[in-house]
Amino acid sequence: MMKRLRLGVLASGRGTNLQAIINATGDGRLRAEVAVVVVDQAGAQARERAKGAGIPEFFVDLGAYPDKRAFEGEIAAILDRHGVELVCLAGYMRILTPVMLDAYRNRIINIHPSLLPAFPGLHAQRQAWEYGVRYTGCTVHFVEEEVDAGPIILQAVVPVLPDDTVGSLSARILEQEHRIYVEAIGLYQAGLLEIEGRRVFVKSQESRIQISGRRI
Ligand code: GRF
Repeated sequence: MMKRLRLGVLASGRGTNLQAIINATGDGRLRAEVAVVVVDQAGAQARERAKGAGIPEFFVDLGAYPDKRAFEGEIAAILDRHGVELVCLAGYMRILTPVMLDAYRNRIINIHPSLLPAFPGLHAQRQAWEYGVRYTGCTVHFVEEEVDAGPIILQAVVPVLPDDTVGSLSARILEQEHRIYVEAIGLYQAGLLEIEGRRVFVKSQESRIQISGRRI
């Protein structure tokens, strides 16, 4: 039987994407397990979700380290100790430094609540709503130095309805986030993703054998 992919999830807040991932590992949709959860906020609800699922969780306090690199060194050490193969940022509110990026090159993914490259940064749903776009959505992408700019794995489109509030729009985007984040992890787990420059190709099982590209 194929080995389960070991995931490390980094979160800062309520953790609904973490929960979606945990649920998918539990009901067989994902051949993966959340090996560890790391949060940077003591009060993050993600901690309770991890505990509820029997997953080790760690709060790493930036204030307890001389600088951000040292802080991230600790996070990377925790991930290493737990044998993490893929890092999933799930509402993790900090920009990564080269400490994490080098340690987990092409092995860190993020979910963002807009159709990137539109509306990067904070409050993407509000940005889209205020701009007046007809369609927005969410994006799963590999994480690189530049914020919200790494190669895109999957996107889902969500229409903005005339009577939407930021809240109702955000809720519909969130449903899609949960769906495509799980799907993207599944593709990674199956070895079906190839990065070529900015583009990510999803290979079918058969073409994967024939095409020699850069395997991730
Ligand atoms: C999500 O909207 C995600 O796209 C963004 O932060 C939010 C996290 O929500 N990066 P949750 O903590 O997963 O509920």
